[in-house]
Amino acid sequence: MEATADQGLLGEVVFSADEIAAAVRRLADEIRRDYSGEPILLVGVLKGAILFASDLMRQLSDYPIAIDFIVVSSYGTGRRGAKGDVRLLKDLDTNPAGRNVLLVEDIVDEGLTLEYLLNNLQSREPRSLRACALMDKPFHRAAKVHVDYVGMTAPDAFLVGYGLDYQEAFRNLPYICKLSCPPNR
Ligand code: IMP
Repeated sequence: MEATADQGLLGEVVFSADEIAAAVRRLADEIRRDYSGEPILLVGVLKGAILFASDLMRQLSDYPIAIDFIVVSSYGTGRRGAKGDVRLLKDLDTNPAGRNVLLVEDIVDEGLTLEYLLNNLQSREPRSLRACALMDKPFHRAAKVHVDYVGMTAPDAFLVGYGLDYQEAFRNLPYICKLSCPPNR
């Protein structure tokens, strides 16, 4: 589907660029403290986590980190079919076995994506596996997932910006806002 950058679709700003930056800094501090010097394989979940993963890495510039990406289907572009149908579109390039894997997600909503990825990665025997999400939207959980690091609690609304899209548009906004006409799920 084509990206439509119709600014008229944008609603109230929920998190400003400064608020996002503060949350990312806090998460980086928590991660640095908890892993206490152990190397991390940071796995960004594309496309939504692209800005978050980049900014988080930058905040951890003094820390031993390797980076990889994984791509899954997401309902945001209508690529998710039946409920629970999460598909891997691109796997890691790195073998996660024996590594401290930190999965970096943009937002956890139903939790199905995170559940799928945690199960998938756990089966490959990492040394440790934790999840970090910029936002937690806990209102419609369909899977019981534990998120080790949460940046901010999102409102019960469809959000765009800072990696989050509506039909591939608005990922490049530096802030996060509501969509004025939320899509049907
Ligand atoms: P879950 O499986 O419902 O937790 O879905 C998580 C994924 O759905 C996220 O990684 C996003 O790609 C997408 N998503 C969830 N909520 C939103 C939203 O408010 N705006 C845009 N994408 C979202």
